[in-house]
Amino acid sequence: MTHDPSDRHNDAAADKRADTEAQADSDHGATPAAATTPPLRRIRSFVTRAGRLSNAQQRALDELGPRFKLPYTGVPLDWEATFGRNAPRVLEIGFGMGTTTADIAAQRPGDDFLGIEVHEPGVGALLKLIGERQVNNIRVIQHDAVEVIEHMLAEDSVDGVHIFFPDPWHKARHHKRRLIQPPFVKLLASRLRAGGYLHLATDWQNYAEQMLDVLRAEPALTNASDEASGYAPRPDYRPVTKFERRGLRLGHGVWDLLFTKR
Ligand SMILES: C[S@@+](CC[C@H](N)C(=O)[O-])C[C@H]1O[C@@H](n2cnc3c(N)ncnc32)[C@H](O)[C@@H]1O
Repeated sequence: MTHDPSDRHNDAAADKRADTEAQADSDHGATPAAATTPPLRRIRSFVTRAGRLSNAQQRALDELGPRFKLPYTGVPLDWEATFGRNAPRVLEIGFGMGTTTADIAAQRPGDDFLGIEVHEPGVGALLKLIGERQVNNIRVIQHDAVEVIEHMLAEDSVDGVHIFFPDPWHKARHHKRRLIQPPFVKLLASRLRAGGYLHLATDWQNYAEQMLDVLRAEPALTNASDEASGYAPRPDYRPVTKFERRGLRLGHGVWDLLFTKR
């Protein structure tokens, strides 16, 4: 996982792994049987990266994992039993190292947050923050978010969805890996309650434009901000990360998008 915006956009190793996976997909598609059967493997928005856990992350996984990390079960999550209360529910997809997640959850103690991330060191890092900051309103699942949303979230069940700086997959041949695509946004919209919100942020202009096109085209969603520009001012609850601050200093843009379910 990379968190420096410039690294994010130049992760040569990830690009190479993505190309290898794409080649495997197209080889598979060339077989006669594949012409009539659906693809065996869905294109994923992440590549499996080897990541070394620090001792502190491992300790957080061991000590706090049993309390705050939920298994992927494939059946709908009982939020009330999980959090021990009935509060507004916010899903975060791809929380990275979890600093933003922990900040927001600490600022909004009345809401419950479910963070999903595939990268184990990130899960360990967020658990560590949960311990240090004594935040009780976060649970994490280490699994592909698409499957979690499909199988563990009921329709009309969440009040908010956060997706901050998703991998931009900057090369055109990898754009199909971008998370924000029409079928995924339709899936997200189905899980939101009426009036619930979808908040996206990116520092990659071409992806921001794609996000805006996809969100505007989803009939279940409506733009909560100025429709003329399409983008929203950064809501106060989203902290400016140090990488974002550096990017802004260098003159790079950041775009927030805020849509609500009709
Ligand atoms: C560029 S990082 C951004 C992390 C964080 N949101 C931030 O702002 O720093 C994107 C993260 O999304 C995660 N990710 C991508 N696709 C995912 C998926 N389908 N399910 C869960 N996590 C995913 C990646 O592992 C990575 O940590």
